Amino acid sequence: MNDNSASPISHSGPKGKLITGNLREFKSDTVGFLSRMAKEYGEVARFRLGPFQRNYLITNPDLIKEILVTKSKYFVKSQEFSALKPMIGEGIFTSEKPLHTQQRKLIQPAFKRANIDNYALDMIDITTDFASTWQDGEERIATRDMMDITLNIINKTMFSMDFKDGHHLIGKPLDVSMQMAVKRMRFVLRLPLWVPTKHNREYKKAVQSLDQVVYDIIEKRRSDEAVHEDMLGILMDARDENDGSGMSYNQIRDEVMTIFVAGHETTSTALSWAFYLLSQHPEVEKKLHEELDSAIGSRMPVPGDFKKLTYTQNIVWEALRLYPPAFIYGRRAIEDVEIGGYPFKKGDTLMLSQYLMHRSEKYFDNPDSFIPERFENNFMKTLPLFAFFPFGGGPRVCIGNHFAMMEAVFVIACIAKRYRLRLAPDHHEVKMLPHLTLRPRRGLRMIVEERKNI
Ligand code: HEM
Repeated sequence: MNDNSASPISHSGPKGKLITGNLREFKSDTVGFLSRMAKEYGEVARFRLGPFQRNYLITNPDLIKEILVTKSKYFVKSQEFSALKPMIGEGIFTSEKPLHTQQRKLIQPAFKRANIDNYALDMIDITTDFASTWQDGEERIATRDMMDITLNIINKTMFSMDFKDGHHLIGKPLDVSMQMAVKRMRFVLRLPLWVPTKHNREYKKAVQSLDQVVYDIIEKRRSDEAVHEDMLGILMDARDENDGSGMSYNQIRDEVMTIFVAGHETTSTALSWAFYLLSQHPEVEKKLHEELDSAIGSRMPVPGDFKKLTYTQNIVWEALRLYPPAFIYGRRAIEDVEIGGYPFKKGDTLMLSQYLMHRSEKYFDNPDSFIPERFENNFMKTLPLFAFFPFGGGPRVCIGNHFAMMEAVFVIACIAKRYRLRLAPDHHEVKMLPHLTLRPRRGLRMIVEERKNI
């Protein structure tokens, strides 16, 4: 443990290669490398991912709180996030103060409880409709289904767009742009986008086709007199409380794109893991079915059911604990700063890992086991802040956290009400792929089993 009363404490870490530092181990086995670092070097472990970059892995919740909350003004987002900028521009995920603070205020109403209850109706309809054609015994690629469902939900809640149009128009260019952004994130040397490398050209092309669709939708809305209660309508009507100004055309585009990117792959990954975990734990699945049968029975779920589905919520929390979609992220110091007695220099990157914290024996009994019951009796309140933080924290806490919980609970409820998903008998070993999010490597193939006794 660190001792705040002592003079600055020094940090240590593995010796890396002269130029690339620890990049090879980090890239080939991210989760294993980070776990070894935390074990060997303690709560602040130093490593390098290139010739100059100084990185530190922080695994003490009190220090994480200082970075994200009490001393957040000393930090900006870490450098890799800039790889997303061609796609999401200066939306709230990538922007910094003062734009971030101002935009966060304008966007917040789209995520108000009452609006999320409205979106819940779409979540229920879309999932029920999507799964309505599944046949008993059919094999599905569950990871793809979860992506399609969450994409359809964000299309509907954002643009009131019918899901078939949405997938064709937005799904494809979004997918290509995301792949390009992830590639760019992993480059050690990121050339500016105007340099005509093959990757840069492909990335720009993908973003241009996405832009065409989004600008077209915004343009149509601007000439439309009708009142729209979807997210786009709320963003377009948002006004600054002081001077009454709204968002510029480009800012709306950036925020729309940001919500799409930040909000669909994360929830779909969480859902994939939840269904995988359920398939491996029949005793949990049985309790889930009992809850769904008694709270909802044979009728369609309604938004008000969310409160009753406490076991389903705990399944989601526990899936987010074991496989946090945002499994690591970083902050770059913009001034020299001391955190928990450790000195950091301007330019240092401090990495925080949900995966490591959530699997720590210090805070969780049997940390690698799937036990949704652990979240009963206000367990979260007994934890130190930032021992469990799937949605981040501080002024940049996930703005879509309630949206995501509502979505995950209703997607599980609508599917599990009617079906069980079993891992295909010839399935490869399920492993993690640390990508933009922590996904199941090579996807999940699952067999649909219709529940007979409902
Ligand atoms: C299980 C699903 C989700 C997880 C695990 C998740 C996780 C996170 C995390 C950890 C952050 C903080 C990143 C940082 O501080 O660097 C974040 C930010 C954000 N998330 Fe989520 N998220 C999820 C779903 C959503 C959804 C559904 C939406 C929107 C519909 C959304 C929109 C955003 C936005 C806009 C930000 C940036 C907030 C800011 O910087 O002010 N997220 N998310």
